[in-house]
Amino acid sequence: MSCFTVYAADMPVSGEVSISGAKNSALPELAAAVLCESAVLENCPRLSDIEAAAEILKTSGFTFKRTGETVFVEPNGKKSAAVPAKLCGKMRSSVLFLAPLLCRFGESAVYMPGGCCLGSRPVDLHLYALEKLGAKTQTNGDMISASAQSGLLGAEISLPLPSVGATETAIMAAACAKGESVVINPALEPEIEDLCRFLNSAGAEISFGREIKIKGKNGLLGRALHRVMPDRIEAGTYLAAAAITGGELFLKNAEAGNIAPFIGILEDMGCIIKSGGKNIYIDAPKHLYLPEYVETAPYPAFPTDLQPQLTALLSVGDGKCLVRENIFESRLGHIPQLKKMGADIEIHDERTFTVRGLNGPLESKRVRACDLRCGAALLLAGLAAENGNCVDGGEYILRGYEDICKKMSLIGVKIKYRA
Ligand code: UD1
Repeated sequence: MSCFTVYAADMPVSGEVSISGAKNSALPELAAAVLCESAVLENCPRLSDIEAAAEILKTSGFTFKRTGETVFVEPNGKKSAAVPAKLCGKMRSSVLFLAPLLCRFGESAVYMPGGCCLGSRPVDLHLYALEKLGAKTQTNGDMISASAQSGLLGAEISLPLPSVGATETAIMAAACAKGESVVINPALEPEIEDLCRFLNSAGAEISFGREIKIKGKNGLLGRALHRVMPDRIEAGTYLAAAAITGGELFLKNAEAGNIAPFIGILEDMGCIIKSGGKNIYIDAPKHLYLPEYVETAPYPAFPTDLQPQLTALLSVGDGKCLVRENIFESRLGHIPQLKKMGADIEIHDERTFTVRGLNGPLESKRVRACDLRCGAALLLAGLAAENGNCVDGGEYILRGYEDICKKMSLIGVKIKYRA
């Protein structure tokens, strides 16, 4: 089991961090590359989830090449519309390949891994979107297949809840369908707008907004050239590193507007934050004051992907905070681990918990990550413990944080990763 070790922490971080391209943009964009004559993706982060997407592309009849931060994807003439179960199991978002492979090959299949520690994470809305566009879908055990031998037809797709992935599936499929489509009640996450920019660079006609309107191309797209937006969750995590250690950081390539609710909470807790252009500066106080209530919700509200990191922060601050997780049915895997480190947290049900801040450091312990953001929260907790900590399940962290050891070392954290 791979492990991160944070040594002798409880020290303010300081310096500069350069934020990488967004994982949650690059992943759907790599899937959408299947729709294109070719795709050039700049600022594509080096992450294990991106490697998993590259493997899927390679087995599906595409070449994937990387030069520095730029990746190149091109069809190689082979056809393989079924993504092997082994590759799907590496990454839940492999379902994002279902629609693009369907549009290119007229049929497609992916496998769903079992539930993870965020809850069951169904894909019914992805299938609903495809069926609305005229595809036939079938679920057989873990295998999901779709077919549309005579192409897709534009339609109105009204989502009962604003799922990020289902919105992306709907947009990608509608971009190649015949006729116009509209996605009603879409998710509005900035990563989806970034996907629209990627698709439009290849000739799609998508207008992003409270309703997403798509003029279908009745066929595949042209050459895509796109620069991936900065990762707002990575940015939020480094801001949290400054806040939890009373440190001072300057983030380059980070857009404050995309995480405004998180920044608002850090300010309420006592941090001074300044932003402009693509930079964010944070100067954190020695003592953090807890807000009374925080809940996660779809963009533009507080993102679920920063809830575990916030929980780590709340654990060491002064006061009491009730937290409600509204996106995932079960995203509390970090809590037993934080409690192991001495955090005072009471779970009320699968979605709500109260944190009573210790107003002091956590205890140094060996803990275990059960998903990516849980891992990030536990590393932050290590920064707030006198003698650091060990975080098992380090491979989860590599899914979403590029060069984390190097970036952390540059801001004064002694950290090591053992595979
Ligand atoms: C994406 C992000 C993930 C983030 C999440 C919410 C990527 C690669 N991942 O995940 O980091 O935490 O958005 O911001 O971009 N749901 C259904 N049926 C569906 C699809 C979703 O019921 O067909 C439910 C899910 O179980 C969940 C909620 O909708 O409770 C939100 O999920 P969704 O927005 O789809 O998240 P993902 O796209 O999986």
